[in-house]
Amino acid sequence: MSNLALLGGPKAVTLPEPTWPIWDDEDRQAVNGVLESGNWWMYAVGEAELGGGDEEPQRSQVDQLEREFAALHHVKHAFAVTSGSTALEICMRGIGLKPGDEVITTPYTFIATATCILHCGALPVFVDVDPETYNLDPNRIEEAITDRTRAILPVYFAGEIADIEAIMAIAQKHNLKVVEDSAQAPGVCLSGDRYAGSFGEAGIFSFQASKTLNSGEGGMITTNSDQMAEIVWSLRHVGRTKESLWYEHHRIGHNARMTEFTAALLRTQLKKLPAQNAKRMAGVKRFFDKIAGVEGFVPAKLHPDETTRGHYLVLFKYDPAAWDGLPRERFLEALTAEGVGAISGYTFPSFDNPLFQKTDFASPASAYMVGRDAAIDYTSFRANCPVAVRACESEAVWMMHTPFLGEAAYIDQLADAVVKVRENYRSLL
Ligand SMILES: Cc1ncc(COP(=O)(O)O)c(C=O)c1O
Repeated sequence: MSNLALLGGPKAVTLPEPTWPIWDDEDRQAVNGVLESGNWWMYAVGEAELGGGDEEPQRSQVDQLEREFAALHHVKHAFAVTSGSTALEICMRGIGLKPGDEVITTPYTFIATATCILHCGALPVFVDVDPETYNLDPNRIEEAITDRTRAILPVYFAGEIADIEAIMAIAQKHNLKVVEDSAQAPGVCLSGDRYAGSFGEAGIFSFQASKTLNSGEGGMITTNSDQMAEIVWSLRHVGRTKESLWYEHHRIGHNARMTEFTAALLRTQLKKLPAQNAKRMAGVKRFFDKIAGVEGFVPAKLHPDETTRGHYLVLFKYDPAAWDGLPRERFLEALTAEGVGAISGYTFPSFDNPLFQKTDFASPASAYMVGRDAAIDYTSFRANCPVAVRACESEAVWMMHTPFLGEAAYIDQLADAVVKVRENYRSLL
């Protein structure tokens, strides 16, 4: 007789899941401080960003957050914006993407990674992911480069840095810009000091509620390039320049400025991030050690040089063959019934989204066809990206980061649940 919770047995996980977000009096005081000051937007507080005083009290919350975020990520500049999606679009405009251009990116990501390119009238060209990491496979990039390729946009999926050295080498060889979609990887670094968002022309981060650095909504752009910094500053600030009059606009920009409330909250949350990243790393390691013997449910490969991991998601590869054909969805039902939050992730690779079927990229009148003889056929990517297709359809399993902020006893219960499902899976067949 099986004692699986799905079949009426007791749940393996009885302890409560850690709550998210985590906040305390410091966060409350930070947000209240903005409220009570009446300075609710960044330009209410002096002109520090425009070259005014150096005293900390004269600096806006946004300005201080940008300095603190840049310092943590070892970059020269950081610009706070309203979301990760906006950050991506500003970066695509910032590198000078034009209608008809192409950008190489991964299909295993949130849709904003593709739409930021489309918003410029340019076209994403999807390259398959590495079967071990689900991050952009550098071995497949060069075959996708054409005379229209302008940039590579890797994603640090699950908070794991992609093979960025290999990607940078290809970009240099072909004179392409690299923008790092680090939405899921704040505070993540290789070898102690090489941070997500510091390798390419620019990096972006998201502070949307599920992320490991959370202010409900919000985003950040990082760059070491003074030229890119000037453009990003301007695009975020409705096309003004630092020298221009207030109602003098030089670029097609956005009002993408972060509020002072958001920045104040992010400043106190940012202080908590390193300890939370360390706690998640310890929790994930404990969990991996305990489920090491479970066949057919294997953690995705982590970057070997990463010294700080983010674990925005804890990513697994489920192999139905090792479970006598038990479909992933049935496995997930059983795990969920035991009290483990685990999901199958993206429904389809980006190119299989209805937007790619519905949009007429081939219309001669569209921006996408500027300077092009032939349209890109988005139905062709299924055959070219079998790993991403398999990940979506039958293989990937995601756990969110919050359970791994739990104490050892809770983590042990999560692992016990996986082992229990493994020991009893035949009753599900
Ligand atoms: C990889 C990736 N890129 C971009 C974004 C967009 O960020 P936001 O939700 O802040 O617009 C997200 C967030 O969901 C993401 O996961």
